[in-house]
Amino acid sequence: MQILVIHGPNINLLGSREPDTYGSVTMDEINKSLEELGSAHNIQTSYFQSNIEGEIVNKIQEASLSKEINGIIINPAAYTHTSVAIRDALAASKITTIEVHLSNVYKREEFRHKSITAPVCKGQICGFGATSYLLAMHAFIDANSNDKDSKDFSSLA
Ligand code: DQA
Repeated sequence: MQILVIHGPNINLLGSREPDTYGSVTMDEINKSLEELGSAHNIQTSYFQSNIEGEIVNKIQEASLSKEINGIIINPAAYTHTSVAIRDALAASKITTIEVHLSNVYKREEFRHKSITAPVCKGQICGFGATSYLLAMHAFIDANSNDKDSKDFSSLA
């Protein structure tokens, strides 16, 4: 099983970026903890970060064409609230995707209350800081152990 983790714009700045909102954990530390959790459950992880919308679209298309990626954990960051292109790429990919956010976007400014991308995802986890990513990984781990024959996590409850 292979999970692709996609971090959107400004997530590379975690650690120094608005720590009161996003905490002090860096993106590399998040990736490392996902790697450890996944590998303990036979799940391989790969990572991608971009500040550029089209590069994220390209990465999703590439993952879909490769047929090697079974699931995606994505924090589209600001593109959550604006990107029809990322939403369409996720919908076209048919890869089971979980959207995550460090902050609870529903407690913040109104423009963050709407996610354009979440409706094409299996679900959304937000508000738990870096743990949001680990909770998403746990959902994939659970699905993997509940249904060992599933190759695409489509049975994810
Ligand atoms: C975020 C929330 C978004 O509204 C914001 O633009 C981000 C980070 C989060 O993880 O809490 O860049 O996705």
